[in-house]
Amino acid sequence: MTIKTVMVIGAGQMGAGIAQVFAQAGLQVFLNDMNEVALDKGMKNIEKLLARAVEKGRMEEEEKNSTLSRLTSTNTINDAQHCDLIVEAVVENMNVKTKVFKQLDEIAPKHAILASNTSSLPITEIASATNRASQVIGMHFMNPVPVMKLVEIIRGLQTSDETYQAIENLTHRLGKTPVEVSDFPGFVSNRILMPMINEAIYTLYEGVASVEDIDTVMKLGMNHPMGPLQLADFIGLDTCLYIMEVLHEGFGDSKYRPCPLLRKYVKAGWLGKKSGRGFYQYD
Ligand code: NAI
Repeated sequence: MTIKTVMVIGAGQMGAGIAQVFAQAGLQVFLNDMNEVALDKGMKNIEKLLARAVEKGRMEEEEKNSTLSRLTSTNTINDAQHCDLIVEAVVENMNVKTKVFKQLDEIAPKHAILASNTSSLPITEIASATNRASQVIGMHFMNPVPVMKLVEIIRGLQTSDETYQAIENLTHRLGKTPVEVSDFPGFVSNRILMPMINEAIYTLYEGVASVEDIDTVMKLGMNHPMGPLQLADFIGLDTCLYIMEVLHEGFGDSKYRPCPLLRKYVKAGWLGKKSGRGFYQYD
């Protein structure tokens, strides 16, 4: 199966980036968000990133224009009827995601693959909200999508080999490297990354060191390009909390309990870079 037309649902940090890389790879793309402001912001971000790439000499003006001509913003999920693949990138919440998948199952053509960019939620459970579990799969991009080379491809219990192969081929077309992962809480990336971030938050909570010093230890001591608290701000503290809860519930092990300070920040609306404040302040 050749995938030509794609819809991305959710135009937030991830959805906009995913739409951009699909359009750059020559696919026709619909970008949808239930929130008009978020949709507009997502489209503007894509335009800004492409314009910057031209300025820096990494892209020709012509390529920028043709990429943008393949992108359509839409406020209706009904455009899924024209698509071979739909990638969902809405908030990390099972109820919201299963509602979206139920709707998509009714609207999308029979052959279409339904993928989720979930960071941690079980693909098998998302798939069970549809009548096409063999065509449901996890396509987990990393942030920022246009830069990061990895895509974790998650097979749900009933995902078919054909579906897996189509998504693996597409990942190569995007110029990214696929890794095949089975459906376990947090997959590989977040099962390893999130407990480290959570531990960094505990280290702050217990007063062991300051935000800046914790990040400096991990940057200079471990050669990480970014400290764990800054990374948490970039991912979104609400997303970090959801993922820790998924790990905690999924494995039933207290080592995954979310730090109370993380909960407190999320309750305060300090969600990291996207809300202007997290462990650091942003303009
Ligand atoms: P975000 O909060 O930036 O964007 C989510 C967008 O979805 C919002 O614009 C919201 O208006 C929209 N939305 C919510 N419900 C909707 C619906 N029913 N229909 C259409 N649009 C809807 O979140 P972000 O960070 O982009 O995360 C999205 C997904 O990607 C989550 O599942 C997250 O776990 C996953 N992810 C996040 C990463 C990160 O670093 N932030 C990395 C990899 C995956």
